[in-house]
Amino acid sequence: MSSLPPSRLPIVRTVADLRAQVAAWRREGLRIGFVPTMGALHEGHLSLVRLAGTQADRVVASVFVNPTQFGPNEDFDAYPRDEARDADLLAGAGCHLLFAPTVAEMYPPGASTTVTVAGVSEPLDGRARPGHFAGVATVVTKLLNQCTPDVAVFGEKDFQQLAVIRRLVRDLDLPLEIVGGPTARADDGLALSSRNAYLTEAERAVAPHLNAALREILDKVRAGQPVEDAEQRAVADLLRAGFASVDYVEVRVPDTLDRLGPGAASGPVRVLGAARLGRTRLIDNIGD
Ligand code: PAF
Repeated sequence: MSSLPPSRLPIVRTVADLRAQVAAWRREGLRIGFVPTMGALHEGHLSLVRLAGTQADRVVASVFVNPTQFGPNEDFDAYPRDEARDADLLAGAGCHLLFAPTVAEMYPPGASTTVTVAGVSEPLDGRARPGHFAGVATVVTKLLNQCTPDVAVFGEKDFQQLAVIRRLVRDLDLPLEIVGGPTARADDGLALSSRNAYLTEAERAVAPHLNAALREILDKVRAGQPVEDAEQRAVADLLRAGFASVDYVEVRVPDTLDRLGPGAASGPVRVLGAARLGRTRLIDNIGD
């Protein structure tokens, strides 16, 4: 891949400016990688940018806190925002352009189209956060159409989101490759997340129990124990550890996110969990 050392990161705020830069790169025959984000960047996002840099000549990142994927009582207003810091981090990770549109640019007055992905959007976070995946699918479809990358990278941390995006790209014949990047974790196993910033010191000490609970389920299922027993025990363990509530801890088929059929635990599985710790909702997932 050809290299262009990033210095101060150029920022564009309109779809027209984004398309002009991408078109100029395309005229040079360059391959475009894209990493959509909501900002409040951490090592997990930066690892996705670096991964995109191995797959493309130019990497575009977007920072857009998408209102349509937050429920009415969720943290849209409180979601951490620091564009200057994000831009510095992106430049350091090898990003070449930041697309940071306004809400009005993304959703002009009268915008009335929603993308919904049936099936894979429905269980787990789809049930716990009604409307969330329609908001994600709509904004991601728009971002992919705006940037027209050759490859887009999304984190496996949001495993169901990645499955929804793979499905919509396939179903809508979008001409790009979707790559999943591994979850970045703290040394104690906690998956890195922008929302970890909400955790108090005491909650931060409890948070790694979510990953440990998922790992224990996976070990038990691999040892032949009944899936539902392992799931129920994990819920009890998390509540005992200090979680306020558990939205789900479930073993699912990785591609479809269907429940496991009889005997399916011997094939590939994904264990996914979401639980609330104080005012913070944590999600995580593991496979083998
Ligand atoms: O994963 C995220 O940060 C968001 O859901 C995404 C994919 C950028 C869409 O807003």
